[in-house]
Amino acid sequence: MRFTSFTYIISLAALARVQAKPFPQTDNLNLPTHTVASFNQTGSWFENLAVRPNGDLLVTMMLPNPTLFHVKSPGSADAQLVPLYKFPNATGLVGITETGNDRFAVNMHNFSAFVTPVADTGAVWEINFSNTHRDDFTAREVTVIKGAGLLNGMTSLTGKNSKSPKCKAETSLIVADSYAGVLRRVSLSTGSDEILLDAPELKPTTDSPFGVNGVHVWGTHLYWTNTALRSLYRIAIDSSGYPLKSAAVEVLLSLPDISIIDDFTFDKKGNIWAAASSNNTMLVIYKNGGSKEYSTYTSAAGEVTSLALGGVTATAFGMGRDSNTLFATTSGASAVPVNGTVTEPAKVVAVDLSSVL
Ligand SMILES: *[C@@H]1O[C@H](CO)[C@@H](O)[C@H](O)[C@H]1NC(C)=O
Ligand SMILES: *[C@@H]1O[C@H](CO)[C@@H](O)[C@H](O)[C@H]1NC(C)=O
Ligand SMILES: *[C@@H]1O[C@H](CO)[C@@H](O)[C@H](O)[C@H]1NC(C)=O
Ligand SMILES: *[C@@H]1O[C@H](CO)[C@@H](O)[C@H](O)[C@H]1NC(C)=O
Ligand SMILES: *[C@@H]1O[C@H](CO)[C@@H](O)[C@H](O)[C@H]1NC(C)=O
Ligand SMILES: *[C@@H]1O[C@H](CO)[C@@H](O)[C@H](O)[C@H]1NC(C)=O
Repeated sequence: MRFTSFTYIISLAALARVQAKPFPQTDNLNLPTHTVASFNQTGSWFENLAVRPNGDLLVTMMLPNPTLFHVKSPGSADAQLVPLYKFPNATGLVGITETGNDRFAVNMHNFSAFVTPVADTGAVWEINFSNTHRDDFTAREVTVIKGAGLLNGMTSLTGKNSKSPKCKAETSLIVADSYAGVLRRVSLSTGSDEILLDAPELKPTTDSPFGVNGVHVWGTHLYWTNTALRSLYRIAIDSSGYPLKSAAVEVLLSLPDISIIDDFTFDKKGNIWAAASSNNTMLVIYKNGGSKEYSTYTSAAGEVTSLALGGVTATAFGMGRDSNTLFATTSGASAVPVNGTVTEPAKVVAVDLSSVL
C-alpha cells in the first residue's frame, strides 16, 4: 500500500465533494484501455512514441528490427500501424522526441543481444516531414556518439510542445544514457555532443544496469526517472538546458514497489503519467501543491496479471480530439512475461483519461 488508511479516508472524502478533481487517490483508477494496433509477431518490442501535429503517432521498434512505425488515425476505430522507415546502420530503435514542427529525433544502436549495444554504435537521426498533411519525409544521421552506453529517453528544447517558454531558440537535444548514467546534450545543427549532467542520481546500480531512463522538460526544470534507483528526480535548468550553477538534484519521489520505472509524460496540469513496465501498469504521479509536489502516486490503468498494458514502455498524449487520450507503447511483456509465461506482440494502447482531466 502506498497510502495510509488516513490518506485514503481523506481522499474518499475529497472524492465525495468533487467528482474528477483532485484525482481520486484510490488503489487503482482502473481507467479504460483499448488496443489501438498490434504488431504481428511475439518477441517484438515498441520502446517509445511521439505525436505528429496531425495527430498520427510515430512508434520506435527495438525488436525485431529498427523500423519506425506510423499509427494513422490512432483515435479512430480503423487505426492503422504502417511501417514508415527502416533505419540503416542499426538493429533497434530506442528513444524519439519532437525537435520542431513535424521534425523528430530518433536514437538507436546496433545490438548484439537483448539491450546489449555494440560499442560506439549509439546514433541519433532526424526525421523531417515535408508537410503535416502528408507522409513524405527526409531522414538524416545527426551523429554517432562515441562512448555511449545505452541511449534511451530524449527531450528537445525546441519542440513546439515544450512547456518552457524560456526554451525556444535552442536546437539541441537532451539524451538519457542509461548505462553510462549521464545526460548528454546533442546539437542538432553540428552533431556535437557533450555531457550535460553527470550525477549519482543518474547512475545504474549493481542490481540494474538501467540508470536514467525517461527525461522531460517541464517549466523551469528537467525531470527524469532512474530505473535502478526507482525514483523521480529534477534539476533547475537555464534556457539552453544547462543545470543552473546554484541548482542541486532534487529527489521528488521514491517508487520502491515499482520494479522498472520507464518513460513518462506530463499532462497540462503537470501530473506525470509513467510507464511501470514489469508491473504492466500506468502510474499517475500527482502534482500536489506546495512542497508536496510529486510526492504521491497510484496505478491508473492495467494490472500486474494483465496484458492490457503488458510491458508498457512509454506514454504520450494525443492531439486535437485525442487530447484526453494517453497513448502508450508496449513490449508485449517480452522481458517479464505476465504470470511468468504469457507474452504477446508489441502494441499501442489508448488509455481514456476523459474522466480525470
Ligand atoms: C508483419 O508486419 C510487417 C510490417 O508491417 C510486414 O513486413 C510483415 O510482412 C508482416 N508479417 C506477417 C507474417 O504478416
Ligand atoms: C553506415 O555507416 C557507415 C560507417 O560505419 C557509413 O560509411 C555509412 O554512410 C552509413 N550509412 C548511412 C546510411 O548512414
Ligand atoms: C552497425 O552494424 C553494421 C553491420 O556490421 C555496420 O555496417 C554499421 O556501420 C553499424 N552501425 C554503426 C552506427 O556503427
Ligand atoms: C524540413 O523540411 C522542410 C520541408 O521539406 C524544409 O523546408 C526544412 O528546411 C527542413 N528542416 C530541416 C531542419 O531540415
Ligand atoms: C509491481 O510488481 C512487483 C513484482 O511483481 C510487486 O511486488 C509490486 O507490488 C507491484 N507494484 C504495484 C504497485 O502493483
Ligand atoms: C494471470 O493469472 C491470473 C490469476 O490466475 C488470471 O486471472 C489472469 O487472467 C492471468 N493473466 C493472463 C494474461 O493470462
